[in-house]
Amino acid sequence: MTQVEDAPRLLVVDDEPSIWPVVERFAGPIGFEVLFRSSGPEALAALPDLRPDVALVDLRMPELSGISVLRAIRVALPNCQVILMTGNATIDTAIEAVKAGAIDYLKKPLDFDRLRDLLITVRKGIDRREQLLQVDADIAKKFEFHGMIGRGPAMQELFDSIRRLAPHVRTVLVSGETGTGKELVAHALHALGSRSDHRLVTVNCSAIVESLFESELFGHVRGAFTGATETKVGLFEHAYGGTLFLDEAGELPLTIQPKLLRAIEHGEVRRAGSLETRRADVHVIAATNRDLRTEVTAGRFRADLFYRLNIIEIQLVPLRDRREDIPYLTAMFVRQCSQRLNRSITGVSPAAERLLQHATWPGNIRELKNVVERACILSDGRILSERELAVAMSTSPVATRPEPVAGGPPPVSKRLSTVQREQIEHVLREVGGNKAAAAKLLGLSRQSLYRWLNRLDLKD
Ligand SMILES: Nc1ncnc2c1ncn2[C@@H]1O[C@H](COP(=O)(O)OP(=O)(O)OP(=O)(O)O)[C@@H](O)[C@H]1O
Ligand SMILES: [Mg+2]
Repeated sequence: MTQVEDAPRLLVVDDEPSIWPVVERFAGPIGFEVLFRSSGPEALAALPDLRPDVALVDLRMPELSGISVLRAIRVALPNCQVILMTGNATIDTAIEAVKAGAIDYLKKPLDFDRLRDLLITVRKGIDRREQLLQVDADIAKKFEFHGMIGRGPAMQELFDSIRRLAPHVRTVLVSGETGTGKELVAHALHALGSRSDHRLVTVNCSAIVESLFESELFGHVRGAFTGATETKVGLFEHAYGGTLFLDEAGELPLTIQPKLLRAIEHGEVRRAGSLETRRADVHVIAATNRDLRTEVTAGRFRADLFYRLNIIEIQLVPLRDRREDIPYLTAMFVRQCSQRLNRSITGVSPAAERLLQHATWPGNIRELKNVVERACILSDGRILSERELAVAMSTSPVATRPEPVAGGPPPVSKRLSTVQREQIEHVLREVGGNKAAAAKLLGLSRQSLYRWLNRLDLKD
């Protein structure tokens, strides 16, 4: 689909402007947009706006040394490659530069062939990573099924079941943890079912107070109870010929369950206050994140209704048990966010990918989607860094934490607080210490920002 159009950016930081046009002449044809700043402070101030992919930095500048600029860029934009250049190269400074994270060190006067080769290599690296990420998003798109992405066996099996069952079933129970996609499954079942040219009516069972349930589902006649000034058609009748989606069915009050069972079994309902039964030919899809078997044992759900609903049960697998889909989901969410925010973010860095791959995801796909979205808003570059994702994860309402895995990345807890500290410091600096603005940028409430500052000992 949309290949990112804008060129990678090369930022030249040198107090000697004579070098500018020369670099431009070499870097332009390789496909870089070339930007210039004549001092370290000026360059650093402009980083969030410019978001360069590569920086070519002079070592000796009056206000801030090239090494300090290099270090600041590594912290602010970890995916930005830095090349240093200097008039009098020594082994020591070269070692220092490489230790601080420079990819190379060029002597002045510049050897332009070497500079060109270096820029071509950097350009190829950027292109390769972006192509890979685009491929992931394209694959995700290809394997999409009614808005659901899933390439692994668990999801392929799910899609097959939906295809197979949808044309034939009259009642289905969709169960799974929060955020696993139960609502999407319900929509797919309806769309592929025999009732797709009729309505899909959704009832959120957790949003209706018990005393109004009967009237919501089955309707009432005028005068049925105080306040019933008009006759009202219930949702069952409203869905006639179509599908009724009972979301959060585990919340159905016990008092309503026998009436619901009757409506499903006999295809008829009785409006409250009326003796007359009416036809209510609807298919029913019920979804729940509770274990209804446990609810039955505990006496909170009627066994007869449960057995009627679960004749066909579709169980959704938690994200942590089908991690093979995480890269594709991520690629797709990044692409969607990037388009919505009108940015050119193409994906995540390898370290960020490992972080996502090992998280526990108690909020499942919804949580992954929200984390990616927050990271996109936070991000400065075209590739989301590990740090941006760690911060987005740390502000997740259901605190998802990376799980340590054998042979995986190093223990994360310590590393996480360093990355969080750096990100928070970075954001605070960027907004000149304004905590309200920093909280907003980090997607935190002001109170939770203060909690973080306390926890990370950053109060001052
Ligand atoms: N397979 C998937 N591919 C892409 N997006 C998905 C997938 N499954 C779920 N989502 C997205 O995740 C979010 C949560 O999905 P959904 O509302 O269907 O979950 P749910 O199981 O109904 O959760 P809850 O129990 O909390 O109501 C939605 O934004 C949905 O678009
Ligand atoms: Mg839901």
